Amino acid sequence: MTLVSMTAMLNKALEGRYAVGQFNLNNLEFTQAILLAAEAEQAPVILGVSEPYIPYMGGLKTISGMVRSLMEHYRISVPVALHLDHGSTYDVCIRALHAGFTSVMIDASHHDLEHNIGVTSRVTQAAHVLGASVEAELGRITGREDDLVVDEAEGMYAVSEDCVRLARETGVDCLAPALGSVHGPYRGQPKLGFKRMEEISRLTGLPLVLHGGSGLPDEEILQAISSGTAKINVNTDNQMACTATIRTYLQEHPNAYDPRNYLIPAREAIQASVQAKIRLFGSAGKA
Ligand code: 13P
Repeated sequence: MTLVSMTAMLNKALEGRYAVGQFNLNNLEFTQAILLAAEAEQAPVILGVSEPYIPYMGGLKTISGMVRSLMEHYRISVPVALHLDHGSTYDVCIRALHAGFTSVMIDASHHDLEHNIGVTSRVTQAAHVLGASVEAELGRITGREDDLVVDEAEGMYAVSEDCVRLARETGVDCLAPALGSVHGPYRGQPKLGFKRMEEISRLTGLPLVLHGGSGLPDEEILQAISSGTAKINVNTDNQMACTATIRTYLQEHPNAYDPRNYLIPAREAIQASVQAKIRLFGSAGKA
């Protein structure tokens, strides 16, 4: 199957009350593992690429070519979207679309609402001409470099009225409202704004996106899905599965030197991690 946009898979997920996983690409092994996991589970899947990983993996065209070639090699039959995660500018979104990405996120959430609506509209117009989908963000999703504790997050929740305006004026396909989730490991108890999530879902009618899907208790994931979340982003949990496997292997085999000896088990660990998430999100068998 060729790459598709996220639109149909997310609308179907919202209607069926499950979520499609976005799993971030870190390298070749992550890409192989995620595609194989989706095929094994017969699940639609979104491959996310965040900006710092573009130069790391050799540029947008390399990534797009790698994904397409692996899909052909493994005869992947499930719907796959290749999505730019947290695109920071109009330019990077256009460059991703030009390189063959089928979806982009324009993250102008750190700008004021007018600016966010302006740039999101321009990206959406361009993406839709190409049949690609667009995700926007409102509020602030913190984590990693942001040294904020979870309890401070409530003040940065997305405002429902802003979400309605952004949805109406830009024509985006899905929306990531910041509601207390963070990227990377949680410091303290996660505190997600489910009531606000339900309200934004009801008022906008859009599939909602939950960033920072790692480290959340299963019940919170399920509650997010029943509150209108149709896309859940996961990276850290897969990175941890990968690195723990490599660490154990190298501790047990200090003289090992062939990368395949630790990267093959690492790839299997990533695949198992992704398959477990797909089952939790309810997207297994929904291809
Ligand atoms: P985690 O790394 O916390 O799973 O978050 C991933 C993410 O939201 C990517 O946009």
